[in-house]
Amino acid sequence: MNNPVPAPPPIVIPQFSLARQTAALRPQLTQAMERVLASGRFVQGPETEALEKKAAAALGVHEAIACANGTDALHLALRAAGAGPGTAVLTTPFTFFATVGAILLTGAEVEFADITPGTFGLDPAQTAAAVRRHKARRSTPLAAIVPVHLYGGMADMEPILAVARAARVPVIEDAAQAFGARSPAGGAGALGLAAAFSFYPTKNLGALGEGGMVTTGDARFATRVRALRTHGSLHRYRHEELGWNARMDEMQAALLRAKLPYLSAWNRRRRQIAAQYAEALEPLAAAGKIVLPARPAGHVFHQYTVRIPDGRDQVRAAMLAQGIGSEIYYPIPAHRQPAMRQRYPRLPGGRRQIPQLPEADRAAAEVLSLPMFPELTDEEVARAAAALRAALEA
Ligand SMILES: Cc1ncc(COP(=O)(O)O)c(C=O)c1O
Repeated sequence: MNNPVPAPPPIVIPQFSLARQTAALRPQLTQAMERVLASGRFVQGPETEALEKKAAAALGVHEAIACANGTDALHLALRAAGAGPGTAVLTTPFTFFATVGAILLTGAEVEFADITPGTFGLDPAQTAAAVRRHKARRSTPLAAIVPVHLYGGMADMEPILAVARAARVPVIEDAAQAFGARSPAGGAGALGLAAAFSFYPTKNLGALGEGGMVTTGDARFATRVRALRTHGSLHRYRHEELGWNARMDEMQAALLRAKLPYLSAWNRRRRQIAAQYAEALEPLAAAGKIVLPARPAGHVFHQYTVRIPDGRDQVRAAMLAQGIGSEIYYPIPAHRQPAMRQRYPRLPGGRRQIPQLPEADRAAAEVLSLPMFPELTDEEVARAAAALRAALEA
């Protein structure tokens, strides 16, 4: 008889779950869905328009354009900013691949600059150096710089905006993980020429399906995004340029409208959880076993992500054995993805010349995101922190 493979231990505290939130909001969500059913309007109707107004007010921007998902939001904003064949876009390698995918979908090339270890976002000095290198090496213009506000914490925007201004390159924020985040420079989504948000269900503000949004303070830019969202068309059956169908549906708009009023409280709760983790884990940080994330006031903790310089994967397995989930966002930085390989020049001997981005590589090897969602109880947070302590002290 074969030895049966032991069943994995049950997950007691998942890294993420929507079950409690969806159950608690069931009446509001049902009401929103009923409203759409009764209206008979399923695409480009009053729910989308109302969501755009509410989201623009919440983010402090003039224009918000709802769309199908965060990848489309980036793609739309990049296209409207002029990214396309014969241009390049500068971004961070330490992000979900959609940031880079959206750039490549426009036909533009990707130029990477390394990250600042403390923010996990674009390093301003590396960004300036990459802009200089690009200008010296290539004739292609830079169409945009795309900082990513990873984990709900903002990139170091003041100096990044200064670099962009000096180079006369627009900034498009990838704010997919940062609805409601703030920084001394201002709120996420209100700082560059435009920004892209995702309402993927796991995000701080998540749809019950797919959704995204472009924000901008520039009315002409907004008009172009609206056209691109519907096959390049502002007037029925007249197409000014090539766009595609990137519309949000009314059901998702209604559900997001139902959830938006709760977002500030959810983000506050995420900050509380982060503070509780920080207090519980401080001794491990003092002992040099982990590095805790910075907690600037406007962080919205889409993730609470520690660094474990030594033995991250074993620690993760030991936590799992105690029933505590965790995730690695992201194990392979964008510049090392197989999808990028053929874009790099060949070296003598045939190997590809992969860009040198040591901080992104180091982050990918060290990061671990602990359980984080607003409905976690204090006891659960304490238990997750205790499991990490036990795993590190084993
Ligand atoms: C940083 C970042 N950029 C872009 C995206 C793409 O958003 P979506 O999945 O809605 O297309 C995501 C989320 O998935 C993301 O985390």
